[in-house]
Amino acid sequence: MALFVAGNWKMFASRAGVTQFVDELASHWHTADGVVPVVFPPTGYLAQLQTELAAKLPGCVALGGQRIHPEPQGAFTGESSAAMMLDLGASWVLAGHSERRTLFGETDEMVAAQVKAAIVAGLKPVLCVGETLAQRQAGEAEQVVARQLDSVFAKLDAGFGEGAVAYEPVWAIGTGETASPDQAQQMHAFVRERLSAMDAKLAEVPLWYGGSVKPDNAAELFAAPDIDGALIGGASLAAASFWQIIEQAAGLTSA
Ligand code: 13P
Repeated sequence: MALFVAGNWKMFASRAGVTQFVDELASHWHTADGVVPVVFPPTGYLAQLQTELAAKLPGCVALGGQRIHPEPQGAFTGESSAAMMLDLGASWVLAGHSERRTLFGETDEMVAAQVKAAIVAGLKPVLCVGETLAQRQAGEAEQVVARQLDSVFAKLDAGFGEGAVAYEPVWAIGTGETASPDQAQQMHAFVRERLSAMDAKLAEVPLWYGGSVKPDNAAELFAAPDIDGALIGGASLAAASFWQIIEQAAGLTSA
């Protein structure tokens, strides 16, 4: 299976920054067989990123949106639909990132509706799941992740398409604290098992790890058998560190 190296830019971007990122990434680039890089910029920068990537790194980097509204269109000020993401060049979309859940009150039901809308429109969803520190300390990590998975997969009558699941323990996001490869692998194995039990086809769903992934810890995470990719925040903002992580993934896939 390919290794995914995905950058979630969150609310960090500018027109000049997009140009600089693509120029710099292009200056580092050499073949990265077996690696699928994806960038999730703020919605307003998708089109510029698509144009610049097509000119300077054609076919090398896929794009994704950070969130969609489940309705195809309507009077929903501030929102964007799955079709709009596709129109702007995205082929992926995040759903249920912990920042959306905690800061914007997104419930499991809302996340399930977004995942469904993405699949119906032809966007590949990345369902984000993960427990807080308090939940881990209370021994509830698996229970929380199971609930987040079940609430989405129970409602998917049209399958999961080519979607992915990202395990992002909340306590490791933006904190510099990473889950150890063992902790991440353990949860990924749990997710794999739970999905396979629902439907044998779901055993193939790529499982990404997110939470303080950096150039110096990426290789050991990618080496874990059930880690098929990384969802990177801070270290994806600079082309140099994003490229270093792509290189590590490429080294492992060609090994
Ligand atoms: P950091 O890599 O900055 O911890 O962010 C992780 C994340 O939330 C990716 O979606």
